Amino acid sequence: MKPRGWLPLLLQLGLMWPLGALSEPRLRVFVVPHSHMDVGWLHTVQESMQAYVTNVYNSVVEELILERRHRFIAVEQVYFRLWWDGVASDKQKGQVRQLVAEGRLEFVLGGQVMHDKAVTHFDDQILQLTEGHSFLYETFGIRPQFSWQVDPFGASATTPTLFALSGFNAHVISRIDYYLKEAMQINQQLQFVWRGSRSLSAQQEIFTHVLDHFGYCSEGFYWDGEPIFPHPPADGWYPNMQLPVTQKSLQSFVEAMLYNVGERATWFQTPHLLWPWGCDRQFFNASLQFSNMDRVMEEVNKFTYQHGISVQYATLGNYFQAVHAHQLSWKVRDHQDFLPYSSDLLYAWTGFYASRSGLKGLARRASALLYVGESMFTRYVLLAPHWFLDPAWGLQQLQQLRWAVSEVQHHDAITGTHAVKVGDMFVEHLSTRMEGVHKLMASIIQDRSPAHSGPEPGGHFAVVYNPLAWTVTTIITLTVEFPNVSITDESGRPVPAQFQRSKEMPSAYDLHVLTTIPGLSYRHYSIQPSRRPQEDTGEPVTSLASSRQFGLRLRRSGKQVGGSLVPVKNDCYTVFLDKDTNLMHSIWERRSNRTVLVTQSFREYHVKSDVNHGPISDNYVFTPNGRAEMEIVEGPLVTEIRQYFYRQGNEEMRPTFAIYSRLARGPQGSDGELLCHRIEQEYRVGPLETSTKLNTGRALYSDNNGYQMQRRPYRNYKSNTIARNYYPMVQSAFIQSRRSRLVLLSTQAHGVSSQRNGQVEVMLHRRLWNNDKGALGNNLTLNDTSVVHPVLWLLLGSRALTSGLHQRSGLALQHRPVVMLREMNGEVGGPWKQKAVTLPPGVHLQILSIPGWKYSSDHTEHLRTLQKGDKAKADLRCVLLRLQHLYEVDQDQVLSRPVTVNLRSVLRGLGSVVSVEERSLTETWDVSEMYRWTWSMGDPHRHRGNSSRPLPPPGSPEVTIYPKEIRTFFIHFQEH
Ligand SMILES: *[C@@H]1O[C@H](CO)[C@@H](O)[C@H](O)[C@H]1NC(C)=O
Ligand SMILES: *[C@@H]1O[C@H](CO)[C@@H](O)[C@H](O)[C@H]1NC(C)=O
Ligand SMILES: *[C@@H]1O[C@H](CO)[C@@H](O)[C@H](O)[C@H]1NC(C)=O
Repeated sequence: MKPRGWLPLLLQLGLMWPLGALSEPRLRVFVVPHSHMDVGWLHTVQESMQAYVTNVYNSVVEELILERRHRFIAVEQVYFRLWWDGVASDKQKGQVRQLVAEGRLEFVLGGQVMHDKAVTHFDDQILQLTEGHSFLYETFGIRPQFSWQVDPFGASATTPTLFALSGFNAHVISRIDYYLKEAMQINQQLQFVWRGSRSLSAQQEIFTHVLDHFGYCSEGFYWDGEPIFPHPPADGWYPNMQLPVTQKSLQSFVEAMLYNVGERATWFQTPHLLWPWGCDRQFFNASLQFSNMDRVMEEVNKFTYQHGISVQYATLGNYFQAVHAHQLSWKVRDHQDFLPYSSDLLYAWTGFYASRSGLKGLARRASALLYVGESMFTRYVLLAPHWFLDPAWGLQQLQQLRWAVSEVQHHDAITGTHAVKVGDMFVEHLSTRMEGVHKLMASIIQDRSPAHSGPEPGGHFAVVYNPLAWTVTTIITLTVEFPNVSITDESGRPVPAQFQRSKEMPSAYDLHVLTTIPGLSYRHYSIQPSRRPQEDTGEPVTSLASSRQFGLRLRRSGKQVGGSLVPVKNDCYTVFLDKDTNLMHSIWERRSNRTVLVTQSFREYHVKSDVNHGPISDNYVFTPNGRAEMEIVEGPLVTEIRQYFYRQGNEEMRPTFAIYSRLARGPQGSDGELLCHRIEQEYRVGPLETSTKLNTGRALYSDNNGYQMQRRPYRNYKSNTIARNYYPMVQSAFIQSRRSRLVLLSTQAHGVSSQRNGQVEVMLHRRLWNNDKGALGNNLTLNDTSVVHPVLWLLLGSRALTSGLHQRSGLALQHRPVVMLREMNGEVGGPWKQKAVTLPPGVHLQILSIPGWKYSSDHTEHLRTLQKGDKAKADLRCVLLRLQHLYEVDQDQVLSRPVTVNLRSVLRGLGSVVSVEERSLTETWDVSEMYRWTWSMGDPHRHRGNSSRPLPPPGSPEVTIYPKEIRTFFIHFQEH
């Protein structure tokens, strides 16, 4: 045979095997067909289903059945489930079952979506994985073994931990800092074992593969063109369809492929190459795709004996199996994350940490509501003597919110990088399903009658529920229309309360009530207008707070400040406000007897917005006054400092920038510790800058997904330094000197940065104008005119004090008790008994819910049911419980210790426990049977957390939880 034109090329690349027959190819190329299908970006889920997704699954299944060599990996379960439930015929379902069983169709990742990793909370990541995995297990009896996160913008160190706990053998990421990726390519370090946590044992490590700079797209190898929205074209003709492979063009395709393969092969240590075949919205005409690629691959393989390269269709699992079998010793990477992500010198993807702040807030409120709803419903189903509400209906409300919260974790959802109409879709899904859960909660409290008698008609009950498994002392706030009220508890005793004119509605009043609620318990307060003047009653009464006004002040820069200070105090802090500026001046902390200078201001970044002058800021990328008026509202429980800021030239408008700071006074001692040690701040708009006189060396600490903290030293770059020093803050951040630490806790994701020594700034909101045609055409600009109201808590104190309080305070903020009002109907119920559920302080109840999965937790039994074509019934006595140790190994002398919990006695308040089963993170697998691959490593003996802990006997109610562990259980409760 005449030598082909591309043979000299291979010689150049050094890929030619010396002449002579080869028994084995020198390089195996794994062509992995996939379609990246965003769950909302430029188009809604509905539109995407119509325009292409339905055709992806229809045509892929057909092609895979026709040809045994063809493979496909399916990623986003939202789409697969919509197709499975709404489109697939019985015949197609049978075919899919066959393809899955034979390993030709492989589910990777298996979550509802491919979640973002920078601005999502790990509670929500677990939820979205669980929703997808449970469906796969219910339907096919399988669990995904590999993960595929090829588009999210950066990677957090939480990821390896969660994926290892989910049972994955290996995982793939792609978007990391371009400069780092380049170095990893040159040094053949794109593959490594990742230890995401410094406290956890080897069980939580995972083999990680970073895609090379070609990413997940195979430019030049698509034949099906671009989908047309909203409907597929009748004639099947799509824009940008590539010319089919013909005898004439075959050679150029083969050359292109071999050239690409040759270049990439040098970046990896083993003779296996992962070659993702696909891109966004591909394979809606799988027949066209496969028929053309078949020809190219056949041609390449004809000459394997000459060039040593073989190509094959593969699933992700096929590829990793080959790499694993090669038995190399791998480098280990520690718990450093891959944030922030820069795709190029001038493109730091840090703007999205604050884009669509309103949606970010809504997503977390929905998640917190789900947490409460799950816990109230579980209590109700386990404890109510009679069910007045239909549990199936209740479960449905919860399941719908689980879906909506899962969906918004998508990397073009909570990130704020989507088109306007897609954002409207996320908001609509979240709001309607939150309404459903509110209805469920209202029905649950209507079913319960409080224990005290004699409420007079006309008043209200405030029913307060604490979803955390600790006793919580806090202040709840209600808005009422009248100032004279009397508030009494279950036994008719008056409770401490304070009312004041509402900051937002001048005609209404904020009513603050001090409450202490045991874990997973309710309190009931009756609120009635008091007809008598308060002095007559002789009882402790609701007090009206007094108010002091401080007029508009100009900030006098350069002048001596601090001449005249107004102190505002509680038992832990004194906040000093400067009368000359009406701004914060300093904070004194009692325990350390130290005063730290703290100033706060609003700042705005002016961004590049014109494409004619270089790269611009957009939803992804961030490239980079004042007068204040103050009012102090002081009462026995809470003092509120109201600071109003005016933007220049906008005087006549009501303030659009404001900070409301609150200091609370509660009981002394441990009950009131968390309440005392926080300065609550509610804002309008941003960004906000807090400067301190702490010597911090510009090092900032911010969290990964609310799970663990990362140190962020300030880095100088040649360009774009401000943006590249921005980090996500999902739940917390802090700066510290040797003696003091200032912690910020938040209810939603923000961008955070420390640009100067002792300074920390939080990006609260973004609004941009730009003239980029692509962005304008796709409605991707960020002209966000909403007003946002984020809440932050500030904790100040010694490192020891704040590191003990940090995690629990973060959770106290995330899961504040919920207050529900119900009208008094004069009905008197019987005594309503409740037993609290209380965990030790270092352990958090990550979730308590009735999942309602339709599978038996006995794998053999489940497979038998599936084979018979039956579906199991949801078991309402099977409760999902997940516990999390909050502390790192060396974080706190006491709280970092392993904690032993007897689940049977802790959960006694919910009923009697029949059995305890430990499960994988996403619940689908018995942990004792979840065998993951092991990978040999360069330094296997380096000291690790708790690698030698003895395994508890299976089924034992006694569990010992080590620092940072997350443990998942099914608890079976007795019927009553
Ligand atoms: C706190 O510090 C101040 C000055 O630094 C000192 O005068 C005072 O005695 C200290 N108080 C206590 C209780 O140590
Ligand atoms: C952009 O969004 C607005 C509001 O949803 C809509 O009216 C407009 O048609 C959209 N423009 C494009 C180009 O999609
Ligand atoms: C931004 O939005 C506001 C309010 O919707 C509108 O008045 C203004 O024209 C928009 N600006 C740009 C540049 O699109």
